[in-house]
Amino acid sequence: MLVLSVDNLKKVYTSKNNENSTNALNGVDFKIEEGEFVGIMGPSGSGKTTLLNLLSGIDRLSSGKIEILGKDVKKMSKNNMTLFRREHLGFVFQDFNLLDSLTIEENIMLPLSLDYHEPEEMKGKIDGVMAMLDIATIKDKYPYSVSGGQQQRAAIGRAIINNPDIIFADEPTGNLDWKSSNTVMGYFEKLNMMNNNTILVVTHDPFTASYCNRIIFIKDGLIHSEVTRDSKERTQFLNVILEKLNSIGDEKK
Ligand SMILES: Nc1ncnc2c1ncn2[C@@H]1O[C@H](COP(=O)(O)OP(=O)(O)O)[C@@H](O)[C@H]1O
Ligand SMILES: [Mg+2]
Repeated sequence: MLVLSVDNLKKVYTSKNNENSTNALNGVDFKIEEGEFVGIMGPSGSGKTTLLNLLSGIDRLSSGKIEILGKDVKKMSKNNMTLFRREHLGFVFQDFNLLDSLTIEENIMLPLSLDYHEPEEMKGKIDGVMAMLDIATIKDKYPYSVSGGQQQRAAIGRAIINNPDIIFADEPTGNLDWKSSNTVMGYFEKLNMMNNNTILVVTHDPFTASYCNRIIFIKDGLIHSEVTRDSKERTQFLNVILEKLNSIGDEKK
């Protein structure tokens, strides 16, 4: 099943006085099928965050079309989009975005508290998610007292607690050291393989991207090319990505 379809997507940011405009996306096309684990790579300023914000309806597109789970994003009202995000999408950010005043467990529960759930059902879900991410032992701790990698795993827990149809992650390893990045990406891989979760990760880091099964490269607001992992070992795929980045970098500007 097709979960995401993007057609000739453009985004222009205009300043208030209309003096400056930035063409952040210049006509992007791609499709994502259910169960895919896709990376979007591009240097800083290439339009990655803009793209995620448009896909999830946080920002309005300038032209083109986005269909997410069969819905045309342009045709949804702001309120409908907010509800749609809550019901169908999970988000993971670079800086974790956990609430400092809540424990790890309470942070993960937060999305559930927006709707009524039977206490039993809620407990089962939370315990399952914490076990999956190996964070049950830190459930009563506060974010500031656990490592960055553990905070990001809690943030992943919060993102998946509602069984989203798509998980969006914007530079999820951007604030992590190599070892924690490894662990966190390993959990995304596990969610994709064991739960068949559809995951879209945006990153400028080749190591992070090497966990994905397909990588779309964007440059200057356009899709440049893509590579697929197929049956390659991760380290082998990393080399493919590094070569690709080199060849993109070598092209005449
Ligand atoms: N809210 C905004 N207003 C104006 N320009 C923006 C805004 N957000 C991003 N941009 C510009 O759009 C381009 C793409 O930015 P962004 O999507 O954040 O890139 P990336 O996430 O790949 O680093 C950049 O030139 C950036 O300066
Ligand atoms: Mg960004």
